[in-house]
Amino acid sequence: MVESRNGVLRRVGLFGTGSYAPEKVYSNADFEKMVDTTDEWITTRTGIKERHIAAEDEATSTMAVRAARSALEAAGIAPEELDLIVVGTVTPDHPFPASACLIQRELGAWNAAAFDLSAACAGFLYGVSVASQFVATGAANNVLVVGADTLSRIVNYKDRGSCILFGDGAGCAVLSSRDGGHEILPSGTLHADGRGAEVIYIHSGGSQHPITHEALETRLHQMQVSGREVYKFAVSKFVDLVRGQLEAHPDLELGLVIPHQVNQRIIDSARSRLGLPEEKVYSNIARFGNTSAASIPIALDELVRSGQMDEHRGKLIVFCAFGAGLAWGSAAMRW
Ligand code: UT7
Repeated sequence: MVESRNGVLRRVGLFGTGSYAPEKVYSNADFEKMVDTTDEWITTRTGIKERHIAAEDEATSTMAVRAARSALEAAGIAPEELDLIVVGTVTPDHPFPASACLIQRELGAWNAAAFDLSAACAGFLYGVSVASQFVATGAANNVLVVGADTLSRIVNYKDRGSCILFGDGAGCAVLSSRDGGHEILPSGTLHADGRGAEVIYIHSGGSQHPITHEALETRLHQMQVSGREVYKFAVSKFVDLVRGQLEAHPDLELGLVIPHQVNQRIIDSARSRLGLPEEKVYSNIARFGNTSAASIPIALDELVRSGQMDEHRGKLIVFCAFGAGLAWGSAAMRW
């Protein structure tokens, strides 16, 4: 740990990204066999065509480790150089210890503190915010931020209104105080409103309602989603978050908005309210579904590795996410 130079906040750079999605894929046709639904309904209501589903021997930490190795390699930073690992997840491998500790062990990142944070779909951007403060203040030089979720383990596959939405995956970014990289701007925002705690949640399995046989039989240990309420909340926060970042950076040309991949209709509706053309808002939801905390870092890594970020050099990149908590937030970068 080092001190910030002269009490001045340090520049925070993004140096590498990585992602991983399991090999197994559930198509809409697979859901037609599980619940009363159709490919047509899922496609028109959500834009989703397929999602990746973890194999039996995969879990949040195993996916995250694969993503982390590529991110570290891309960053040119060794695991022992990490000071901190922050993992946004609502599906840790165990109730405790933190998946971050399992990831640390697997990577051999022996000099890193490690913890999970729970902000559901906003988990990666919450992680970026935390990591950025550590790097900016000098509390850490190199931080691995992970967004990873294995939602297939908590989805109710009898509930057609929610099961078709979700997929598994992991994405990572390495943030550092080193010279270079892509600048994380200090205008990121975090928000929460616990009055919406039951809009998307799991009732049983925590300290308030421990697991009982009855809870298992009635599937109270699985995710319950008030889809319509999340829909309205997501559109309105998406618009507010992106507008806030655009207003904070009038000097920068917008390159791309990379939103949490929640539902294509939510993305389209917010985009048209913002008056942005289709090519300014990235979407890969057709191929991944909603992967919760992993959705933004998977999207970013896909864009980086395909060379699509190259055209945005020097431009403003805006990220926004919203989900259970309710929790939402934004981040901005000069690419
Ligand atoms: O990242 C945060 C987590 N994400 C979310 O919580 C999801 C956000 N919400 C959504 O994406 C959308 O609200 C859904 C995709 C969940 C639902 O779309 P919607 O346009 O809001 O549909 P709805 O819930 O208003 O339901 C319309 C109809 C209902 O039937 P009736 O009552 O009109 O007869 C549902 O029962 O669609 C029915 N329905 C389905 N039909 C076929 C719901 N799910 C399905 C399905 N297949 N899978």
